[in-house]
Amino acid sequence: MPVPLRRKGGERVNNPYLPYPVRIDDIVVETEDKNLKTFTFVFLDPADEERFAYRSGQFAELSIPGKGEIPIGIASSPTEKGFVKFTVNKVGLVSSYLHNMKPGDIMGIRGPLGNSYPWDILKGKNVVIIGGGFAFTTLRSSIVYMLANRKDFGKITVIYGARTPGMLLYRDELMAWEQRDDIDMHITVDGTNDPNWKYNIGFVPTITEKKAPQADDDTYAIICGPPIMIKFTQPVLDKAGYAHDHIIMSLENRMKCGIGMCGRCNVGKDFVCKDGPVFTLAQLNTMPKEY
Ligand SMILES: Cc1cc2nc3c(=O)[nH]c(=O)nc-3n(C[C@H](O)[C@H](O)[C@H](O)COP(=O)(O)OP(=O)(O)OC[C@H]3O[C@@H](n4cnc5c(N)ncnc54)[C@H](O)[C@@H]3O)c2cc1C
Ligand code: FES
Repeated sequence: MPVPLRRKGGERVNNPYLPYPVRIDDIVVETEDKNLKTFTFVFLDPADEERFAYRSGQFAELSIPGKGEIPIGIASSPTEKGFVKFTVNKVGLVSSYLHNMKPGDIMGIRGPLGNSYPWDILKGKNVVIIGGGFAFTTLRSSIVYMLANRKDFGKITVIYGARTPGMLLYRDELMAWEQRDDIDMHITVDGTNDPNWKYNIGFVPTITEKKAPQADDDTYAIICGPPIMIKFTQPVLDKAGYAHDHIIMSLENRMKCGIGMCGRCNVGKDFVCKDGPVFTLAQLNTMPKEY
């Protein structure tokens, strides 16, 4: 596979459309339906890793020459060095092509793009992570980041659900976090026939109602998941007293350029790719309901 365009001599052109060349180092099949895979990439030029300095909550365009680009949330944490990870659902043209690629193949990553979760505000605060299905990717990044900087945060609560145990992402890590006493984990599935399942059974909003801490000025919730999960979780957080500027969400609008140039992702005056994808619910309440 050809290496993405670079200026002669390897010097990087200052062009936001130009991807960094990366090698696929590892591929993990995450879910029992085999539709979700985590790709670990290594930068061909180690200096590009420094240039690709990112924060949890940002995304990048995964770029496959001759096929196209797709925006994908960064699943690794900036505290993990030497690689960058993305978990990709096989849905269409580019994601299916990527799913057929192999370790050793070369492609591109363009970014990091967008804002991030507001780590300057979250520092010193209690953080409740609420995730559903495969939208857990940037939440994984956030959990790894917070655990690597544990003293910078108050109580960390995680509520994460999937349809079945086999559809949970990052199962080994979830189990390892379960064992820790500095993070309050609540894994759940909609249902299971597995007699050995020892975690919750129930939808994410129900588990949130039971397990999320009551709101206070020092507690923020980050929610990522399918629209139906968000629709039923928001009233639960309202009831628990969370102010809308303490509820943080990430949007996944259709995108092309990812840098505020093409107008593909606008919601009113905001570019989801540049002003977002992370917004507080208070911000979303002021935006047209186009997301
Ligand atoms: C900021 C951001 C972060 C994202 N993070 C992830 C992630 O971590 N993992 C992941 O698997 N996916 C993520 N997505 C969604 C991902 O970008 C799309 O699934 C991908 O672009 C589909 O490309 P494709 O060429 O495979 O499919 P296409 O052939 O383009 O389309 C296949 C199907 O997917 C639908 N589709 C295309 N783009 C989107 C979209 N943005 N949202 C919903 N449906 C879409 C199409 O309507 C069509 O039905 C993210 C999207 C955004 C904007
Ligand atoms: S994707 Fe082009 S402006 Fe946002």
